[in-house]
Amino acid sequence: MFELAPSILSADFANLEDGIRKVESGGATVLHVDVMDGHFVPNITIGLPVVRSLRKATSLIIDTHLMISEPGRYAAQFVEAGADMVSIHVEADPHLHRTLSAIRNAGAKAGIAINPATPLFALEEALPYADFVLVMSVNPGFGGQAFIPTSIAKVRRLREMIRERGLETRIEIDGGIDEHNVLDVVEAGAEIIVAGSAIFGKSNPAEAVRTMLNRATAWV
Ligand code: DX5
Ligand code: ZN
Repeated sequence: MFELAPSILSADFANLEDGIRKVESGGATVLHVDVMDGHFVPNITIGLPVVRSLRKATSLIIDTHLMISEPGRYAAQFVEAGADMVSIHVEADPHLHRTLSAIRNAGAKAGIAINPATPLFALEEALPYADFVLVMSVNPGFGGQAFIPTSIAKVRRLREMIRERGLETRIEIDGGIDEHNVLDVVEAGAEIIVAGSAIFGKSNPAEAVRTMLNRATAWV
C-alpha cells in the first residue's frame, strides 16, 4: 500500500500542530520525524519529548528516523514515547539484529535506514528482522537537498532482494522527492514516500500532499 510521509523537518517547529492538521487534511497517513544528534549527522533536531507531544496531537502513524550514533541505546524509548515505526542506520549500529528485535518487542515496526553510498549487502543478513528498509536518496542531515538519481536503481535491486527471499519488507524512500519524481520511485518499488520541502515548503501543504498522492497513484 502506497503511503505519503510528510517530514516535519521542513515544518515550522513553533507551529507543529498546525502543520500536522494541514497534512492530515491532505490525506497523509504517516508523519516522518527526523531525529538527529549532531554526531552521526552534522545537524541537531528533536528527540523524545517532542515525539511524546506529537503522539498526543495526532493519530497519524509516527515514523521516527533515528540519525543518531548508538541507536540501540534509544530505539525502544522512541516506541515508548509513541513511535509506530522506528528506523536505525546500518552505518550506526553494529548490532542490527539486537536493536531491530528490541524495536519489535517494544511494539513498533522496525526499519533499517541505509545511506546513498552504503551497498545493499550491508543489510542483507538483517533483512528478515526488519519490517521496512529506508533508502536514503540524499545524504542525511538536511532537508531540501537534490535527489541522487542512482537511488532508483538501488530501490529496484532492493525490491528484487526482498522478492528473492520471499519477504514482505516494505521500502521507504527519503530525500529530494517531489511531485516530479514521486512516480519514478513508486514505480521502482518504494511504498512509503517521505517528502519535506516539497510539502512544508509550499504555501499550501494540504494541496501539496493531494498533488503528490495523485501523481503516485497514477501508476497503481
Ligand atoms: C534528511 C531527512 C529527510 C528530510 C527530507 O536527512 O532524513 O527526512 O526531511 O527532506 P526533503 O524532502 O526536503 O529532501
Ligand atoms: Zn528522514
